[in-house]
Amino acid sequence: MAVSLHGSSVSDNIESVLFTEEEIQERVSFLGKEISRDYKGKTPFLINVLKGGVVFLSNLMMNIDIHLSIDFMAISSYGPSSETTGAVKLIKDLEESIEGRDVLVIEDIIDTGLTLNYLISNLKARQPASLKICTLLDKSVRRIVNIPIDYKGFDVPDVFLVGYGLDYDQRYRNLPYIGVLKKEVYLDGEPMIDY
Ligand code: IMP
Ligand code: MG
Repeated sequence: MAVSLHGSSVSDNIESVLFTEEEIQERVSFLGKEISRDYKGKTPFLINVLKGGVVFLSNLMMNIDIHLSIDFMAISSYGPSSETTGAVKLIKDLEESIEGRDVLVIEDIIDTGLTLNYLISNLKARQPASLKICTLLDKSVRRIVNIPIDYKGFDVPDVFLVGYGLDYDQRYRNLPYIGVLKKEVYLDGEPMIDY
């Protein structure tokens, strides 16, 4: 059965809500306090990989009450091989040097960990003073490479999630909550997730 998305409401194809807007806000506020406390006296440099983490970054930084700066990277995968190696092509690099700075990578979700693993080695080579990882969601059951997570919002099960920045085929990012997408949406011809 074909699922038409045109004209439908963005919440139509959501099976269930995993985290409500309020639950996310409460957790993000907690993380912001932790980061503010841990980086007191420093000016963390928050790096976000477009596009999934932009909603999280936007909310998180407003819950941090020390000075900070932000920048973005954009990556594209090399095709099927990226699924096993995590090697990606940088299509937008940082505007500033991170040498000697306290870098905090802000992620929407860590799944296999392959993409982030690649990025971490890329960033480490630029010699930041420190490099920490903050992710809103941790889908640890699918992890292939171990990633040290310094700040974590929630553990999540092995289901495909959308909303609060997370997409399926570039859609659903604008849902204010995190939900489980109905299976018929992605079993309908479109290639499976951009894992
Ligand atoms: P990985 O950790 O290298 O496997 O890739 C993480 C990326 O996969 C995330 O930044 C998302 O773009 C995507 N991803 C993984 N799980 C989900 C999900 O449940 N919903 C939406 N995107 C996901
Ligand atoms: Mg994505």
